[in-house]
Amino acid sequence: MSCPASAPSNRRLEGKVAIITGGANGIGESTVRLFWTHGAKVVIGDIHDDRGQALAQELDSNAMYIHCDVTNEDDVRNMVDQTVEKFGKLDIMYNNAGIAETAAPKSILTIDKASFERVLNVNLVGGLLGTKQAARVMVPARKGCILFTGSATASIACTINHSYVASKCGVAGLARNVSAELGQYGVRVNCISPYAVATDMMKGLLPNGDGKQLEAFLSEAGNLKGGVLRVDDVAQAALFLASDEASYVSGLNLVVDGGFSVANPSVAMALSRLN
Ligand SMILES: NC(=O)c1ccc[n+]([C@@H]2O[C@H](COP(=O)([O-])OP(=O)(O)OC[C@H]3O[C@@H](n4cnc5c(N)ncnc54)[C@H](O)[C@@H]3O)[C@@H](O)[C@H]2O)c1
Repeated sequence: MSCPASAPSNRRLEGKVAIITGGANGIGESTVRLFWTHGAKVVIGDIHDDRGQALAQELDSNAMYIHCDVTNEDDVRNMVDQTVEKFGKLDIMYNNAGIAETAAPKSILTIDKASFERVLNVNLVGGLLGTKQAARVMVPARKGCILFTGSATASIACTINHSYVASKCGVAGLARNVSAELGQYGVRVNCISPYAVATDMMKGLLPNGDGKQLEAFLSEAGNLKGGVLRVDDVAQAALFLASDEASYVSGLNLVVDGGFSVANPSVAMALSRLN
């Protein structure tokens, strides 16, 4: 899905400054491109230096790459400071960086504590640090927009790995709670919770599965038929929440999952077995 953004009237983030963590790849990269197309100055925060630098170079001086491990508060503080130094302000902080251990044991009986903590550290603590450092400059400005990438897996139990689901439940709760604190300063805080997308993070889900096979599998497991969820669809949700069109939207968990988390096929499946 692409958005015709060449005409100035369509540039929905003109003049805004955004940081997108995990911006070198997948959902983050798609959002970097979309925000930039819509007139934003975009900072790509990631640990994947080659990809992040190449992406910033491919765009123009309105894009900048900064090495930032979201679990390291000094890195996150430095990224926010460099952004304000170069572009003069920070309007949008998108806490998107994340990992999943798709090959992790599925049972609570065999779960590994260190692996659980690693996932929570990137997905949840990373979002916390991004939010804290962004709020440091947004609160005095008395405006701003903070976004998180959560997951539809936080709205439903579907036996995929516990660390990932626990981290994304934390992300949704953190976003909601911080929205209550920062509302008094005019700072909006929202979460985007997608169904599965065939990004590098998901490649480990299928042994030896290529992108097409993975998409076919995700389409089969999804609720909404006739299409698949793509990174651009998630980026479009972020664009809406970051834009002035969402100027009174805060505390929302925008689930982008084609109804996956509200559909329960078990009764229909049991009935079909009776026939
Ligand atoms: N792909 C999906 O199915 C899916 C579904 C729901 C939510 N999400 C979430 O979307 C977000 C983006 O995932 P994606 O699918 O685009 O994956 P991806 O692997 O394509 O991209 C993740 C990016 O995060 C970066 N990253 C990882 N650890 C980091 C760290 N410590 N500091 C800074 N950057 C780091 C990686 O280098 C990479 O560029 C994640 O939070 C993920 O949990 C993904």
